[in-house]
Amino acid sequence: MREYNIALIPGDGVGGEITLEAAKVLEAAAGKHGFAASTQSFDWSCDRYLAQGEMCPDNCLEVLSDFDGIFLGCVGDAAKVPDHVSLTMLLTIRKGFDQYVNLRPIKLYPGVATPIRTATPETVDFVVVRENTEGEYSNQGGIFKPGSPDGLALQTAVFTHKGCERVIRHAFELAAKRGKQGMVTNCTKSNALNYSMVFWDSVYAEVAQDFPQIKTDMALVDAMTMWFVKNPEYFDVVVASNLFGDIITDLGAMLQGGMGFAAGGNINPEKDYPSMFEPIHGSAPKYAGQGVVNPIASIEAVRLMLEHLGEAEAAADMQQAVMSVLGRGQIKTRDMGGTATTAQMGDAVKQALLAD
Ligand code: IPM
Ligand code: MN
Repeated sequence: MREYNIALIPGDGVGGEITLEAAKVLEAAAGKHGFAASTQSFDWSCDRYLAQGEMCPDNCLEVLSDFDGIFLGCVGDAAKVPDHVSLTMLLTIRKGFDQYVNLRPIKLYPGVATPIRTATPETVDFVVVRENTEGEYSNQGGIFKPGSPDGLALQTAVFTHKGCERVIRHAFELAAKRGKQGMVTNCTKSNALNYSMVFWDSVYAEVAQDFPQIKTDMALVDAMTMWFVKNPEYFDVVVASNLFGDIITDLGAMLQGGMGFAAGGNINPEKDYPSMFEPIHGSAPKYAGQGVVNPIASIEAVRLMLEHLGEAEAAADMQQAVMSVLGRGQIKTRDMGGTATTAQMGDAVKQALLAD
């Protein structure tokens, strides 16, 4: 029997509640599709930081390297630990495991309301491929004479040829597989960022030559936010640097009905290291313990994990289950204007999954 060991890191705030639902649906999918998924939970969080002085042990990468996949709930609780400290854990895993593709599908499911009038299930179905290990998040810089009138901050974006090439190539490969119009839109800002983004564009042009069947396209990141709203149907695959990809996928989440629906995979395509899957919403500490948040984003993260692990049938089945629950419209969590709890939504998806 195919067997997967999955690490669960619930994290902070609502992380525990949504991880329970993710694990519930994972287990159901495994039972139905004939594979085994064993899970082990790690208490890496701001509470651990307060108790032990660190979010996770120094050897966290070594510990995680034994797993086939990682599910991350959500990290951060600024009332306990400053965000730039707690979130280092997330960025350390992304970088340490060379998870250079941050895959963020933007798809609006039937039955889900969105605040954006142009967004319908027919118009919203694209994928953002975000570079996930370098760029503006390279963690290079420093603060000079902090706290003095001469204070100065330097934060250097690092764009390597290898780093740009591999993520752009992944985007082209994905466009070739997706079967939409076969187009990769380059999210850039080379009109103003005359070194980094001009370089990024040149790598994009190089990679594009290997994919004559895929249409090339570009949009400056500021204009892209406008086009996402005005013409979401236009997009197929978007490739973006780390920071730009971060920003545009929050807008993408609104197109797909809100943060309760948006999931992402931090993927090492070569499978040299485990990949990590997460809802892209934050930890929302003010809702912690209330059972009101929407677990669909976390369930979708599990779906992306199964796809990555090669369980395509289970992933497709899970998507059908999510779509049927949302489409029927009987179970709605608070963000959807309903009163269903986190667990009720998770149960509904599990039942739909097991029903057919
Ligand atoms: C995300 C988040 C993170 C990021 C933060 C929490 C560091 O916003 O995954 O989109 O910027 O990558
Ligand atoms: Mn973000």
